[in-house]
Amino acid sequence: MMRSALITGASRGIGRGIAMELAGQGFGLTVTARREQDLKDLAAALKDNGAPEVHYRTADLVDREASAAVVAEHQRCFGTLNALVLSGGVGTAGPIGDLPAHRFDKTFAVNVDSAMAIIQAALPMLRAGAEADPTHGSRVIALASITGVYAEPNLAAYGAAKAALISLMETLNAEESARGVMGTAIAPAFVQTDMSAWTTDTVPADSMIQVSDIVAVVRMLVDLGRTASITKIVVGRSGTSGYQA
Ligand SMILES: NC(=O)c1ccc[n+]([C@@H]2O[C@H](COP(=O)([O-])OP(=O)(O)OC[C@H]3O[C@@H](n4cnc5c(N)ncnc54)[C@H](OP(=O)(O)O)[C@@H]3O)[C@@H](O)[C@H]2O)c1
Repeated sequence: MMRSALITGASRGIGRGIAMELAGQGFGLTVTARREQDLKDLAAALKDNGAPEVHYRTADLVDREASAAVVAEHQRCFGTLNALVLSGGVGTAGPIGDLPAHRFDKTFAVNVDSAMAIIQAALPMLRAGAEADPTHGSRVIALASITGVYAEPNLAAYGAAKAALISLMETLNAEESARGVMGTAIAPAFVQTDMSAWTTDTVPADSMIQVSDIVAVVRMLVDLGRTASITKIVVGRSGTSGYQA
């Protein structure tokens, strides 16, 4: 039986690493990000890495309908879904006193609203995926952040959005895990990607968590049996208190 996965934010960073891993494991894949050419190149790389079938569709995650259309594309191509990986996300920094409303709104739209829209659209396929694979069930894996668990100055909007995502995974588990659909929020400190490049003068890049480490966590999650549910995994950075990004 071929398992399948849908991955947002697959063009770069953590999402790309996860897509390459699942390709290597033989998952059929649907991938999304904003630019057609990036996805075309990615699809070729995923096939080279072993994916039996790759489909892609561009979507801006601020657009709920475009996000749901990616799920419809997966439905058309695969019919069921075993792993939904929500890695598409955006960060913003600024103190609460000064943070413009439009930046707060965009942070929530990309990180939270899209996740809700995609999960809602994908739930029937995730349930069907769990039925078709009673050994593993199916998984929603959302990239949250350690800032959604422990507050960090200047990251109010980002932290609140990631806390919302963690809560969404908890409720998903409460509602769906008996049917074999489990949700996990991965909440890492700084991971060395484009997203954390702004802070390498204060947090050296080589002290950051590596994409391969988050990929290892995902490898474990897709390997777990259906009676094992892990709601949240906090990944700290060595050399810190464990309570900071
Ligand atoms: N890096 C870190 O330190 C860190 C730590 C904790 C959690 N995270 C979380 O992990 C996830 C992945 O982060 P990353 O470090 O891999 O970031 P990244 O390298 O900046 O990649 C972000 C991904 O999200 C996509 N994306 C961004 N805005 C989008 C939008 N409006 N519509 C559609 N796609 C959009 C990007 O696609 P495009 O090619 O279209 O831009 C890209 O594929 C994010 O949710 C992030 O919040 C990251």
